[in-house]
Amino acid sequence: MFSFLRKQETVTAQVNGLPVTIQAGETLLQAALRSGIAFPHSCRVGGCATCKCRLLSGRVKELTRPGYVLSDDELERGYILACQSVALTDIAVEVDLSAQQARSKVAGRVIGQQRLTHDITQLRIQLSESLQYKAGQFAQLSLAPLGELERSYSFATPVQPDAQVQFFIRKVVGGALSTLVNERSVVGEEVVVDGPLGDFWLRPADAPLLFIAGGSGLAPVLAVLRDALHASVRRPATLLFGAREEHDLYALEEIKAIAQDWRAAFEFVPVLSGAAADSSWKGRRGMVGDYLAQHATPESHAYLCGPPAMIDACSATLAQCGVDSKHIHADRFTTIWGDK
Ligand SMILES: Cc1cc2nc3c(=O)[nH]c(=O)nc-3n(C[C@H](O)[C@H](O)[C@H](O)COP(=O)(O)OP(=O)(O)OC[C@H]3O[C@@H](n4cnc5c(N)ncnc54)[C@H](O)[C@@H]3O)c2cc1C
Ligand code: FES
Repeated sequence: MFSFLRKQETVTAQVNGLPVTIQAGETLLQAALRSGIAFPHSCRVGGCATCKCRLLSGRVKELTRPGYVLSDDELERGYILACQSVALTDIAVEVDLSAQQARSKVAGRVIGQQRLTHDITQLRIQLSESLQYKAGQFAQLSLAPLGELERSYSFATPVQPDAQVQFFIRKVVGGALSTLVNERSVVGEEVVVDGPLGDFWLRPADAPLLFIAGGSGLAPVLAVLRDALHASVRRPATLLFGAREEHDLYALEEIKAIAQDWRAAFEFVPVLSGAAADSSWKGRRGMVGDYLAQHATPESHAYLCGPPAMIDACSATLAQCGVDSKHIHADRFTTIWGDK
């Protein structure tokens, strides 16, 4: 389909030094997988960044705008999405294969389903065996009633000794999996959890922590916070939590408990973007990013999770506050067909 992009029938990609022949019309990911390389991937449509790799030489045509899921820093360093890159010349790329090697598919069953807000549901899943992941990472989840369809969801807890995992799933209008989970009982249904994926986890340091979560983006942030609490992390922390209205805030008791047990200063700042002017809400109003400048310092290490628009706006503000881009870690909750 894209063979008009280059005259040669095939080009060669060096993937971590291994030669891979790319046929006309193939993406780098397709060619690598066909050649037996365990190239990391999940959505295959430019929505999750799992297939990111660094272009060392050569030129590619990108089928979608990579800036949607890659950070400015990654783009500057030459990162591309293998599933969205068609090589125009011979190329060389570097990819971290360690995550894919640690990845496994584990079967399980839904044992709990609880509504957290009017459009976010918590799923509790008993896995047949423990799946090892870092708090903050995500997995591909598939549910038996939807067959092979799978979507990315962040673990809402650190690894549990009883091999249970939790996800917080926000309903996306017209979305297959999130609508099912938010509108029908799925307790007892078989699932497959495929992971771990992603690089959203707490880097060791002494710097003050700034967490920014929007909607179901609280899931990996809670996992990171619980894990850090367990590990007796002693870093001052601020959690900014953006939601629309008061009834969209959830896990407040849990956040309160974390704040009480945290071994350094802990500030929780809920921000509502849609609270009615005459509502009883006494907290912050507006966008979560409006309050970043009050909390971010050049020393901050920031962890952001939620809708791409929130992440982009907050990342820009963090940069203005002097936060180094290497200390900004973000997971964009993109949907496969883009933001809705
Ligand atoms: C790394 C990562 C982590 C994530 N973690 C979470 C999380 O913890 N919690 C969470 O709630 N979400 C999370 N997401 C988002 C999640 O993966 C899903 O994208 C989301 O739940 C929607 O899935 P769905 O099956 O309901 O919607 P989909 O069926 O994928 O549909 C998404 C949207 O596209 C539209 N659409 C469907 N088909 C088409 C089509 N053919 N053409 C055009 N438009 C179409 C739908 O109407 C809908 O609006 C994460 C995403 C990523 C990338
Ligand atoms: S597999 Fe390429 S962006 Fe998801």
